Amino acid sequence: MEAAHTCNNKINFTCRRRTLPTLTACLLILGMIHFTKLPRQPLPPPTINIESPPVRPLKAFISSAYYYPTSKSLGDNAVALLMSINLMPSPYYAPPDFQEIVISATNSTSSVTVKTPHQIVTFNHQCQIKTIFATAQLIPNVEKIEMVSDNGRTEIPFTKPSYESRDVVICVAPLFVSEQWQNFLFAVHIYKKYGAFVNLYLVSSVNTFYNLMKEYEEAGYLRIQPWVSVKFLGVPKNIADTEGQIELRSQAAAQSDCLLQYKESARFISFVDLDDVLIPRLAPTYVEEFQQLFDRNTRISYILYHKENYNAVVPKTGLQFSLKNMFSSLTCKHFRETGKSVVDPLRVNFTSLHFPPQTPKTEKYIVSENVITHLKTIDWVDDIKDPNREEVIEPHFYDNSSTTIISKKDIIDLEDDLQKMMKKLQDTRVFSKLPRIRYYSDLVLKCYNEKYYDLFYNNRKTEITCPGPHFCDFKQHLTIKCMRINATYTAMETLSPVTYYYATDPYFSDTMGCYAN
Ligand SMILES: *[C@@H]1O[C@H](CO)[C@@H](O)[C@H](O)[C@H]1NC(C)=O
Ligand SMILES: *[C@@H]1O[C@H](CO)[C@@H](O)[C@H](O)[C@H]1NC(C)=O
Ligand SMILES: *[C@@H]1O[C@H](CO)[C@@H](O)[C@H](O)[C@H]1NC(C)=O
Ligand SMILES: *[C@@H]1O[C@H](CO)[C@@H](O)[C@H](O)[C@H]1NC(C)=O
Repeated sequence: MEAAHTCNNKINFTCRRRTLPTLTACLLILGMIHFTKLPRQPLPPPTINIESPPVRPLKAFISSAYYYPTSKSLGDNAVALLMSINLMPSPYYAPPDFQEIVISATNSTSSVTVKTPHQIVTFNHQCQIKTIFATAQLIPNVEKIEMVSDNGRTEIPFTKPSYESRDVVICVAPLFVSEQWQNFLFAVHIYKKYGAFVNLYLVSSVNTFYNLMKEYEEAGYLRIQPWVSVKFLGVPKNIADTEGQIELRSQAAAQSDCLLQYKESARFISFVDLDDVLIPRLAPTYVEEFQQLFDRNTRISYILYHKENYNAVVPKTGLQFSLKNMFSSLTCKHFRETGKSVVDPLRVNFTSLHFPPQTPKTEKYIVSENVITHLKTIDWVDDIKDPNREEVIEPHFYDNSSTTIISKKDIIDLEDDLQKMMKKLQDTRVFSKLPRIRYYSDLVLKCYNEKYYDLFYNNRKTEITCPGPHFCDFKQHLTIKCMRINATYTAMETLSPVTYYYATDPYFSDTMGCYAN
């Protein structure tokens, strides 16, 4: 039987830095620019004046603003900002002078205005909208933060990062139209057992799966963080196209948000997708394994684990699910993919999809002692033999040795923990209501293959456009509902050179359909 493919909720755009920049997006906006820049009437013909094209109106959406009363790495009273901004140069716009971000901070007795450079977090040249990072030292007890433009200011909401001491925080990249509940159960039980706190970013998921995640959140297995979409209310697409020109729902911003949020709290922070599961091998817990690896060299900023692809076989029905059987079904595909990193948050300020950008100060260690178990494909099957009668089969490590990725005892502990949760949640019936068919994940996988992987692997890289869920303009299923993020967005008066935007009051609702973005 051919293995049905699972959808990674977030597809990895491995090696995307090798792809060539394209100007596709610029071509789309050709000819429309002058209409938006000039007063309504009379309109001159829409010609492009090569000598003095209009200055690009910059639009920045602030996705994170953390104020650190104390920080071991950013300094006390620091602010750290992440924003999505339409920064890419274009032949049809003159680049605005935007080297420094100007921030004003006010406390009850005084105020200060500081300038600080910004750094680019994402390096995908196909996308016009980039994620940037900036940090600056402000004053004690800040009550108000404003972003300063030449002709006005924008007050922005900010929060404090977590100061609760934790060994390991695992940041799970944003899920969208997710229905992979078996992956979820596999991952969260493992993360808890080996001592990690899970912060999972959520855009949307099938609502029965959402209900399961909420129950697990309640039981202390994870924290669900709503991840709002970037929107510039009232801004035309030709200036900033938030549907087509943001890389992967600003995943790098979500990962960097997690890093900034737990910078003062966690000893180590690991960034994964839901289908990437690390099982410690060198020590009984994550923190001990990571510490051993970081101890090899006192200057290491991050370590990188490779991913080894596995296939899993799981039941379609929630009540039949068993971790023991899922482990027993794992088979290695002997195919390796670009890995994922674990960082020392004191030595890294932001991160891209797979690892932090290289700087002269960054030192990495590529882990050869262990790998991530990547649930690349999952077969959803009808019949699973009686779980109680089946023996436990320990899945093998990828190297063809007799070593296994986990011990029998640990598998049994994990199964016991799952059974405990199933019993506890019996009355809610969340397990019995879980999705039994894969609909959206198969559609997403198909469209990512068509729009990205097929082009990438067939040497048609110049045809690749900015990757993201806007690729997948799929049909809604009549009966499958999704919980999906929404928030309050505000239209802003245009400022120069940058207009700042943000969202407030995020919430999930199942009245908006299952669109991917
Ligand atoms: C992170 O930011 C702080 C404060 O600006 C700076 O001192 C430090 O060098 C930065 N770390 C890296 C790895 O760039
Ligand atoms: C406000 O900031 C000023 C300037 O740094 C500082 O001297 C003062 O103590 C701060 N006020 C409060 C209430 O913290
Ligand atoms: C393990 O065996 C498989 C198939 O027999 C082979 O494709 C793979 O290269 C081997 N892996 C290693 C690390 O030797
Ligand atoms: C999203 O939320 C805003 C603010 O609450 C609301 O005005 C808007 O109608 C919502 N969008 C949808 C599609 O429900």
